[in-house]
Amino acid sequence: MDLIEQLEAVRGSARASLRGLATEADLERFHQEFLGKKSALTEAMKSLGTLSPEERRTAGSKAHEVRTEIEAAFAEAKNRTRGAALEARLAAERIDAMRPSTETRGRLHPITRITRELEDLFSFMGFTILDGPEVETDANNFGKLNFSDDHPARDMQDTIWTTGDALLRTHTSSVQVRAMQLFEPPFRMVAPGRCFRFEETDASHENTFYQAEGMMVDRGLSVANLIHVMKTFLSSFFERDVNVRLRPGYFPFVEPGFELDIQCLVCGGPGCPVCKHSGWVELLPCGMVHPGVLSAGGLDPAEWTGFAFGLGLSRLVMMRYGIEDIRHFLSGNLRFLEQF
Ligand code: DAH
Repeated sequence: MDLIEQLEAVRGSARASLRGLATEADLERFHQEFLGKKSALTEAMKSLGTLSPEERRTAGSKAHEVRTEIEAAFAEAKNRTRGAALEARLAAERIDAMRPSTETRGRLHPITRITRELEDLFSFMGFTILDGPEVETDANNFGKLNFSDDHPARDMQDTIWTTGDALLRTHTSSVQVRAMQLFEPPFRMVAPGRCFRFEETDASHENTFYQAEGMMVDRGLSVANLIHVMKTFLSSFFERDVNVRLRPGYFPFVEPGFELDIQCLVCGGPGCPVCKHSGWVELLPCGMVHPGVLSAGGLDPAEWTGFAFGLGLSRLVMMRYGIEDIRHFLSGNLRFLEQF
């Protein structure tokens, strides 16, 4: 068979193979067989050099013609095959953007997780879990907690007032008043929830944040009971023995009032950057319920005593997970939320 016949044979078998090309692997095989370095066509072109000038011209132009045809047909087959593959994939992976997703499951917000944990720990100690409204009366948020109308301590808790003497509560302490009206003493309650303040925001201040209020009312309660309950709760929460100390602190609704510090959980006392080298970290305010508050709640302060504490829930969550900025909580940023 001379070269011209060989080239025609190659053209014929290439045309026949083209029809069956369906996959990426078929394309590859075809390319190797008809256009590759070891293909009959390449071999034929290499052998052109051995021909006489006359024969070379005819065979050369035939070889060129066949190669051009196969290349064009191959390009066309490639487009067709890839187009069909893409169509098939698009059809198979079709997404109806209007349907509710079944692919991703939600998860609990870190604040919700810690709230539930706290509720469990306090329930275990006999505390009732209470809820209070986020829109409160001035009386429950301030007045009955010994903040008289012109009390300077009001300035530290500015908020938004709605019509009719109601406001966005600035702390969960308002639930103390509700608890005293709701329960016959003795009682113990804890009330986690959302609070609002007119704040300049930064890494540790938000206009919306979470607290948990605690209150116990019984006969003959003392600071010793307060310390015991706090130490028991904090040791369970941090899963180790926590040392606490009290410093005097002023809040209109407790007397005496305290700031409770815990011994630094990072260094254990000697001092480190986390505790600003003092060995102690300020954690929560607390105190013995002021007689005026008991009276405002309808209880006789000659008979009943109480203690109360205000846990900064947002702060506790930040400590637990090592979160450095309170503003992450309400940012709605999924990259933050998906870490929990
Ligand atoms: N409600 C206070 C605040 O947000 C915190 C507080 C202080 C709560 C002393 C208490 C307490 O129960 O005894 O600033």
